[in-house]
Amino acid sequence: MSFRTQPPAPARLNRCQLFGPGSREALFEKMAASAADVINLDLEDSVAPDDKDKARRNVIQAIGDIDWGRKTLSVRINGLDTPWWYRDVVDLLEQASDRLDLIMIPKAGNAKDLYAVDALVTAIEAAKGRGKRLGFEVIIETAAGISHVEEIAAASPRLQAMSLGAADFAASMGMRTTGIGGTQENYYMHREGQKYWSDPWHWAQTAIVAACRTHGVLPVDGPFGDFSDDEGFRAQALRSATLGMVGKWAIHPKQVALANEVFSPSDAAVAEAREILAAMEKAKAEGQGATVYKGRLVDIASIKQAEVIVKAAEMIGA
Ligand code: COA
Ligand code: MG
Repeated sequence: MSFRTQPPAPARLNRCQLFGPGSREALFEKMAASAADVINLDLEDSVAPDDKDKARRNVIQAIGDIDWGRKTLSVRINGLDTPWWYRDVVDLLEQASDRLDLIMIPKAGNAKDLYAVDALVTAIEAAKGRGKRLGFEVIIETAAGISHVEEIAAASPRLQAMSLGAADFAASMGMRTTGIGGTQENYYMHREGQKYWSDPWHWAQTAIVAACRTHGVLPVDGPFGDFSDDEGFRAQALRSATLGMVGKWAIHPKQVALANEVFSPSDAAVAEAREILAAMEKAKAEGQGATVYKGRLVDIASIKQAEVIVKAAEMIGA
C-alpha cells in the first residue's frame, strides 16, 4: 500500500439507478415504488428542448411531494455545454426540498467542470441556509471525460458516484457501434472458423473503476438500451460486477430486478466469503499468513476480497 491509503466509497447501496424523464411526471410514483436503490429524475437527454422548463418544475415539485422512502434521490442536470444547466442548479437548490440527495452532472470533461458546479452549489447552499449538503455524481461519456477520468474522480469532495454512459461515449469516441452498451457485432476475435465476441467497454470500465477506487467514489455501469434482452443485460452487468462496479442503471422498470440480482452477492458467495474469513482467522491464530481453502491458496489479500462481499451483504441486510 502506498503511504496514501485508499479512501472508502460512500457506504450506501447503489445496485440499481432507475431513470425517468422529468417531463413524464406520471412515472414518478412508479419510480418511487420500485426496488431501485437510486432514483434519477432526468432533465437532460430524455427531455426535449421545449419541455426543459416544465420538466424542471415537475421535478422540483416531485422531490418534495412524493414519498421516496429510503432511496437515494438524484436529478440529472443538463450538460455544461447547454444554456439550461445553470437554471437547473439554481432552481433545484433554491426551490427543491432538502430531500434531494444528489445531482448528476452529465458529459463531465475535466475537473474544472465539477469545480464550476461546486462553486455555484456552494454559494446557493450558503445563501439559502440549506441544511443538507448536496452530493454529486458524474457520467463519463466523452473522450475528454475518459482522458481526464482520474482528475474528475478527485475533483470535488461532493462526488459520490461515477457512471459510464455507453451511447454518448461511443459517439464521442467515433466508435462504430449501434445500440446502447452490450455486445457489438463487429468486435470479435476469429479462430478456426469461429467468432468470439469481446468487450469494447472493458477499457473504459476499468479506467473508471481505478479512478473511483483511488478517490473513494462508487463506480457504476450506465444504461443498457435493449430492455427486451434480459440475457444481454445480465451478461453486461455480470462483467461490470466482476470488474468492481457496484451497480447499473435501469432505463426501464423491468431492468431493476436484473440489476439487483446481479449486484447483490448470492447466499453461496456470502457463505464462502465468511468461510474464507474464518479460515484466515484460524491461520492467523496459528501464526500463518496463508492457508488452503477448498484446495486453493487464500492469504491476506483474500481477506480483503471476502470483506468486499460480506460488507455488501451487510448493507443489503441492514
Ligand atoms: N420508471 C418507472 N416506470 C416506468 C418507466 C420508468 N422509467 N418506464 C415505463 N414505466 C412503466 C409504464 O408507465 C408502464 O406502467 P403501467 O404498467 O402501470 O402502465 C410500465 O412501466 C411498462 O412500460 P412500457 O409501456 O413498457 O414503457 P413505455 O413505452 O411507457 O416507456 C421508455 C419506455 C423506454 C420510453 C421509458 O421506460 C423511459 O422513458 N425510460 C427512461 C428513459 C430515460 O430516462 N433515459 C435517460 C437515461 S439513459
Ligand atoms: Mg448521455
